[in-house]
Amino acid sequence: MYKSEQLAQQIRQQIENGSWHAHDKLPSLREQVQLSGFSLITVMNAYQELEAQGLVYAKEKSGYFVAEQIQSKLLDHASIVSLNSKVEINSLVFQYLKSTQSPSILPLGSAFPDSQLLYTPKLLQIMGQHARHRLSYDQVGSLPPGNFALRQLIAQRYRMQGIPTDADDIVITSGCLDALNLALQTVAKAGDYILLQQTIFYGAWQAAERLGLKVITIPEHPKYGFDLDAFTKVLKTYPIKVCWLMLNSHNPIGFTVSDEIKYEIAKLLHEYQIYLIEDDVYEEMYYGGKKPLPMKYFDQQNLVLHCSSFSKTLGAGFRVGWVYAGKFSNHIQHLQLMSTISVNALVQHALVDFLSSHHYEKHLRSLRLMLERCKKQFYQFFKQNLPAECEVYYYPSGYFLWLKLPKNMNSMHIYEQLLQQNISVAPSPLFNVLELQQHFLRVNCSFEWSDQIEMAMNTLIACIRQNHTSTLKTINE
Ligand SMILES: Cc1ncc(COP(=O)(O)O)c(C=O)c1O
Repeated sequence: MYKSEQLAQQIRQQIENGSWHAHDKLPSLREQVQLSGFSLITVMNAYQELEAQGLVYAKEKSGYFVAEQIQSKLLDHASIVSLNSKVEINSLVFQYLKSTQSPSILPLGSAFPDSQLLYTPKLLQIMGQHARHRLSYDQVGSLPPGNFALRQLIAQRYRMQGIPTDADDIVITSGCLDALNLALQTVAKAGDYILLQQTIFYGAWQAAERLGLKVITIPEHPKYGFDLDAFTKVLKTYPIKVCWLMLNSHNPIGFTVSDEIKYEIAKLLHEYQIYLIEDDVYEEMYYGGKKPLPMKYFDQQNLVLHCSSFSKTLGAGFRVGWVYAGKFSNHIQHLQLMSTISVNALVQHALVDFLSSHHYEKHLRSLRLMLERCKKQFYQFFKQNLPAECEVYYYPSGYFLWLKLPKNMNSMHIYEQLLQQNISVAPSPLFNVLELQQHFLRVNCSFEWSDQIEMAMNTLIACIRQNHTSTLKTINE
C-alpha cells in the first residue's frame, strides 16, 4: 500500500468512528506533515484521495473539511454519487470523433440528425441570394454579441414561452458547445465544484477537465430522470459553484424532466445561489404539441445561462448557437473577442430571413414528424431482436435510443467491433466515467429505414448476441 493510501485509510477510519464530524476542518497540509511524519506530497495525495471518495471537500484558501456522513453512505453505492478529481475523457472523445469521420462509416453513433433532414432547400436558396451581395459579408454588424435582428428573433422565441427577454440578453455563439464553454468560463474557475448528471454529453466532462473543476455527479432517477433527493443532499454537503444540466430530451438517455421538478431545482439553485449552465440544444425535438419549458423559465435571479443552437434543427455546419447571457453578456463578449470572435456574417443574415418567415416553424414540424417515425421504427426493431436481457429506453422526443446491455458486457468492445464493419455507435464511456456504467450504447435513429440500415442493425444485434454468449461462457467456465 502506498503511504498516501495508508494515511487516507487512517483518516477515513477516524471519520467513520466519529472522531471527526461533518464540516470539521482537517489539519492543514503542513500540520498533517508534522502529525503524521509523512512528506507534504504524501499528505496532499491522501487528502485528494479522500476528496475523490467524497469523504472530505476542499474550500478555496481554507483547507479540507469533512463531508456530511450522508455522503459517505451514498458513496457505499459507487454509482450513486461520485467525485472525480481527475476526469480524463478527452482522448476517448477525440478517438471516437476521429473514428466516425470517414464517409464510409454509417454514423449511428453521430450526435446529429441525418443530414438529409437538415440544410433545407429554402435556407440554402436564401443563403444563395445573400451570397451575391457584398453587404452580406460585412462582419461589423455580426461581431459580438451578434447580428441584432437575429438576436431579436431568438429573444422573441423565449418570450413565446413566457420568458421575458430582449435582444441584449442574447449573445450569438459558434454553436451550442461554444455557448456552453463561454458560459461556464464566465461563472467558474479552476478548483470550483461543478455538479453534473452522472450520464451526460461528453462536452461537459471535457469542459470540466479543461477548466480544472472538481466534479460531483448525481445519478439519473429511474422514473423521473432527475434525482431531486440526491441533488439536495449534494448541495447541502458541497460548496457547489455551478451545475451543468440537460433536462429536455437528454443526451444520451432521452428523458425530459417535469415542470414540477424543474421548479424545485430552481428553488434550490436560488437558496444556495448556484449558477446553472443549461444545455438545451434539443429543445425543439419534442414530439407532443407543447415545447418543454427550459430552466430559464423558472429562474428569478439570473442564475441560469441557457444555451442552444440551430445545429440539430438546421445543420451543425452553420455553427450558429446562442447563450441567454443576461447580465453576463459583456463578460461573454470579452471572452469571445479572445477566442472564437464571431459567427460568419453571411450565415447570420440568411438565418434572419429564414426565421422571420414561416419557413422555420414549417421545417420544425416536418422534422419532428420524421424523427418520431424513424425512431419508432428503430425501437420496434430492437424490441423484436435484442436479447431479452437487454433494455431499450424509449422517450417521446429526440432521435436517440439508449440501449442497456447485460451488466458484464463492455460497450467499448461492441463499438470497436462494429467500427471494423464500418458502423459507428456511441458507447457509454463517452458519457459516464463510472466503471459500473460501461454497458450502455446510444444509437442515432434519425435515418429513414432502408436495406442498408436493416443490414447494419442486424450486424449490431449479431455483435451484441455474440458478445453476450462469450461473456456467459466466461462466467460459466
Ligand atoms: C447535448 C449536446 N450539447 C451540445 C452540443 C453541441 O452542439 P453544437 O454543434 O451546436 O455546438 C451537442 C452536439 O452534439 C450535444 O449533443
